[in-house]
Amino acid sequence: MLDKDIESVLISQTDIQNIVSRLGREITRDYHDRFPIVLGLLKGCVPFMAELLKVLDFHLEVAFMNVSSYHGGIESTGDVRIDMDLASPVKGRHVLLTEDIIDTGRTIKAVSDLLLYRGAASVKVVTLMDKPEGRIKDFVPDYIGRSIPKIFVVGFGLDYEERYRNLPYVGVLKEHVYTTKE
Ligand code: IMP
Ligand code: MG
Repeated sequence: MLDKDIESVLISQTDIQNIVSRLGREITRDYHDRFPIVLGLLKGCVPFMAELLKVLDFHLEVAFMNVSSYHGGIESTGDVRIDMDLASPVKGRHVLLTEDIIDTGRTIKAVSDLLLYRGAASVKVVTLMDKPEGRIKDFVPDYIGRSIPKIFVVGFGLDYEERYRNLPYVGVLKEHVYTTKE
């Protein structure tokens, strides 16, 4: 049913599996002796983080934070707000931030700076997708699933006005979805 709103598939389910396996190997190599906090940024991280956790072969703690930057629509407002903070103390801990996508870099930069301010031993970032052309804040993620052009995508955690997060792949919406809202 959701498929009918999709113009084209950008990252297929098979692509996602391959990306996640590679990231799992890289992260396991770097973190196996660090007992990190793998910190997901809700809600977009959920499908990606669920897949990633299964291929991380070492002890880790799972935590979540809910931070919003877009308040609906397809343009970032530049306003970053913490809606739910993480429960675990981060002082002295290695934190691996898990994001669905990095665009302007504002969200991830704000959260990284906050965690470092709170005394995290290190903060690194894994993102399923990166849109380097969208950058306003200087920020280079440590682990990147796929770099993509500056286009608006949905699925596998990414929403358009809270919809389409449950698509099992990443795709581009048909034009009419933006122009004809129920
Ligand atoms: P940034 O602060 O501009 O880097 O925005 C990052 C956040 O914006 C992501 O966590 C997403 O929630 C949202 N976002 C950025 N690009 C897209 C997109 O193409 N589709 C859906 N959400 C997006
Ligand atoms: Mg979003």
